[in-house]
Amino acid sequence: MCGIVGYVGPQDAPPLLIEGLARLEYRGYDSAGLAVLTDRDKLRVVKRAGRVRDLVEHLPPGFGGHTGIGHTRWATHGPATDVNAHPHTDATGRVAVVHNGILDNAYELRARLAADGVELVSDTDTEVIAHLVGRSQAATLQEKVAEALGQVHGTWGLAVLHADHPGEIVAARNGSPLILGVGNGEMYVASDLAAIVRHTTTVVLLDDGELASVTERGFSTTGGKAAAEIDVDPAAYETGEHESFMLKEILEQPETAARVLQGRLDDRFGTTHLGGLEMTPHESRAFRRVKVLGCGSAYYVGEMGAGLIEELARIPAHAEPASEFRYRNPIVERDTLYVAVSQSGETLDTLLAVEEIKRKGGRVIGLVNVVGSAIARACDGGIYLHAGPEVAVASTKAVTNMFLGFALLALHLGRVRDLSVADGKRLVAGLEALPDQIAEILERQDELAEVADELAKAESLFFIGRVRGYPVAREGAQKFKEISYRHAEAYPASELKHGPLALISPTMPTVVIVPDDDLASRNVGALEEIAARGGPLVVITQPGVDLGGVQVTRIDVPASEVELAPILLTIPLQLLAYRAALALGHDIDKPRNLAKSVTVE
Ligand code: F6R
Repeated sequence: MCGIVGYVGPQDAPPLLIEGLARLEYRGYDSAGLAVLTDRDKLRVVKRAGRVRDLVEHLPPGFGGHTGIGHTRWATHGPATDVNAHPHTDATGRVAVVHNGILDNAYELRARLAADGVELVSDTDTEVIAHLVGRSQAATLQEKVAEALGQVHGTWGLAVLHADHPGEIVAARNGSPLILGVGNGEMYVASDLAAIVRHTTTVVLLDDGELASVTERGFSTTGGKAAAEIDVDPAAYETGEHESFMLKEILEQPETAARVLQGRLDDRFGTTHLGGLEMTPHESRAFRRVKVLGCGSAYYVGEMGAGLIEELARIPAHAEPASEFRYRNPIVERDTLYVAVSQSGETLDTLLAVEEIKRKGGRVIGLVNVVGSAIARACDGGIYLHAGPEVAVASTKAVTNMFLGFALLALHLGRVRDLSVADGKRLVAGLEALPDQIAEILERQDELAEVADELAKAESLFFIGRVRGYPVAREGAQKFKEISYRHAEAYPASELKHGPLALISPTMPTVVIVPDDDLASRNVGALEEIAARGGPLVVITQPGVDLGGVQVTRIDVPASEVELAPILLTIPLQLLAYRAALALGHDIDKPRNLAKSVTVE
């Protein structure tokens, strides 16, 4: 969602800020803006609803300076208009603020400021901060910002400029990510590493409640933080030879899947090494239930994971959307292991679910991709997913690694219970084979193009599966609708005859997930029911499955250990969604209305 970038140093700030904002476009936004302090210590602001490129077209001649902040906004308080875009300024026009997050008491503060004669020009909560900073009598800019933040409640990642404090940016974080980037005689501020990674990988991760003062000479933070070098390849933020991040990330999966498994599989005892769980075998054994929480694709893969845990550890496991759980005064049990799943580690619904569990004394582990993210920090331990930065809005390689994270966890929970060494070894071998099997599917991606073209023609599609195939169908439908904008709906295969069968017709294709398991013949029954009503069928299956004489378009993934089939069956669904969106001419990496990280309620 919203993005922040700031620069102070010898270079002209606007081109760097624009480049940074363009790098944050993938997060989703509807307006953009810049503020700079000119060499005459004047504050200049340009902001507009629309794309970063619209902003660039409207930069006035001579718009420059060596200290600046920029923002991409995703509207929350008030529509996407020029006035509501950030930066927001105070009444004197000497203070500029960019802000990610939401202020809970903005309404009261707006009323108080209005009663004091302040004219508020926007509908936003953020404008309040600009006025509060502008009215502060404190000596330093950091003190002014601290005083303002002392009056607001809510979440923020923010950056502030003040014409009376040239050459300085004050940054603050509370619930919304913010980092400082240390350059050579220059400094950056950003809400996401993507904005600055081409300039520096020496960063300071601010903590909640922390403030920082940044000048070209360096930085100081209220928490006394030092900078650290992070291990990231800037190329991860470039599409390289690929036409989109989504395709690049799909194709990276053999490598990224191998990474999450690396060093964690124990061939000898058929188990896993998961030091990050911070749990003794005794503690791992004590759980009687597992509850998985995530949103969107993370929830669907959480359903796959819950299935794996139930199968391997034989303890009841269930997944629920974190966005529902947090609103229903959940019963948190001492002998339940809670598992939060998130690529970004920022999804607010998931974070708030974790916090609620912790408030009630529950134990939560995280399956999180972004190291040091809010959810990772809030959890008691976990498994990092090591998929590398995921830029495309539609999650692919992170979903695969979430599944593999669950497989590792399920194996661990199984082996401290009744899963035999032989079964453990069988699964370890099955997991070791997966990266190559994923590569095998990807090598045949062109075969899927024609199928995808056909599916793209349909206004509406079903995705169905049974038991371990059902969450795969849900994830397949999710991916398809996100980027093709077609109505794609998932059903358990056995539910068809309880209602949805009424919709089957020659214009309504059904994508059917048929793992090579003991339910395969039942799935053939569903195929027959659909075929009898003239419904076109695409079946994603495995070599051992006999589909009888039913007329279908068949796509095989390699044979696998049965428990691991869901992830192999998911890969062609990513490719089908991708190719369909391509055929429809959509902006694959920036699907309409969606944001990469959903950091608002
Ligand atoms: C699907 C997708 C979303 C996310 C969801 C959770 O392709 O991108 O459904 O899976 O918003 O995001 P994270 O995993 O960052 O918590």
